[in-house]
Amino acid sequence: IDLSGRNSFHVRQRAARLVEFETTDDLTAFFRKGAPAKWTVLAGGNNILFTQDFDGVLLTPRAASIDVVAEAPDAVAVRAEAGVEWDDLVAWAVERDLWGIENLSLIPGKVGAAPVQNIGAYGAEAKDAIESVEMFCTDTCNTLILSREHCAFGYRESVFKHALRGRVVITAVTFRLSRRPRPDLGYGDLLRETEARGGATLRNIREAVCAIRRSKLPDTAVLGNAGSFFKNPVVEAAVAERLRTDYPALPLYPAAEGRMKLAAGWLIEQAGMKGHREGCVGVHDQQALVLVNYGGATGGEVLALAHKVQEAVRAKFGVEIAAEVNVL
Ligand code: EPU
Repeated sequence: IDLSGRNSFHVRQRAARLVEFETTDDLTAFFRKGAPAKWTVLAGGNNILFTQDFDGVLLTPRAASIDVVAEAPDAVAVRAEAGVEWDDLVAWAVERDLWGIENLSLIPGKVGAAPVQNIGAYGAEAKDAIESVEMFCTDTCNTLILSREHCAFGYRESVFKHALRGRVVITAVTFRLSRRPRPDLGYGDLLRETEARGGATLRNIREAVCAIRRSKLPDTAVLGNAGSFFKNPVVEAAVAERLRTDYPALPLYPAAEGRMKLAAGWLIEQAGMKGHREGCVGVHDQQALVLVNYGGATGGEVLALAHKVQEAVRAKFGVEIAAEVNVL
């Protein structure tokens, strides 16, 4: 099966087989006789780089319902199936005056992928709103519900990338959303952009986030890309301080355990790679964290550019930047 329409990098690779599933019965039928030697979940294909053909089975969630499953005076539990388009869920919540995921507007991808990456933007992360994750265990063919405390969420991290990798298929996610306004506008230009639209209503915040994203991030429908290709590196405070001494403009954000998060986009730009182009691949000229396929690139070409960017940052700053995108 041709994957070019199923990955946002638009690289032309093939997979041996692709199976769409709707229900856990479908998954049971698939895994009952034991997992195939090679399989993985391909949902929106927005965070994956195929560098070769995939000689296994890709599983794609199709179920896409959104339901309120519990209501309290201030809060609502909303269950969304894995195949829901993430931004459709955000729009659904905003229409119903439910707070908690509006800062995550316009992130491409499906709901089932949100906990894996713990998607985040503008000071918010999916983990802040996730109550639990439903997952189909491929060994036992049972469905289990993992509450948020057991998901080991961190910056672009979760248990689904580690201990549970290759062992479960996420089928639905339950979110706890608030009826009480709780605007979180501390990040970057968000406050200014929201004020410019008339103040901190859910709709204005959503519009502000969408506008900021559209101004910086290339539309995957037009230009192949997978959002941030790299994670922002988290370093020891002493390392950050030393870099700050040499580069006073270095953006720094506090991270867990007293460490500091650096802006990889800034490091890449300062290393001279922003806007750098090689054949059909390049570093985006508005946001250096994003690698783009100008058309016709192979995954290998994107990966080679990624290595070059990593090397440039290492040479200038002595800092390693890891890929955020799954390279297959
Ligand atoms: N910066 C530069 N040059 C660049 C890009 C960024 O100097 O080319 C500087 C900015 O001026 C700013 C700092 O780096 O001082 C941070 O930039 P920005 O606010 O654009 O965010 P980011 O750290 O580059 C992260 C997420 C994005 C998310 C934004 C906004 C990661 C890997 N990326 O990017 O997420 O939209 O914050 O919250 O954490 C994604 O994961 O695919 C993604 C787009």
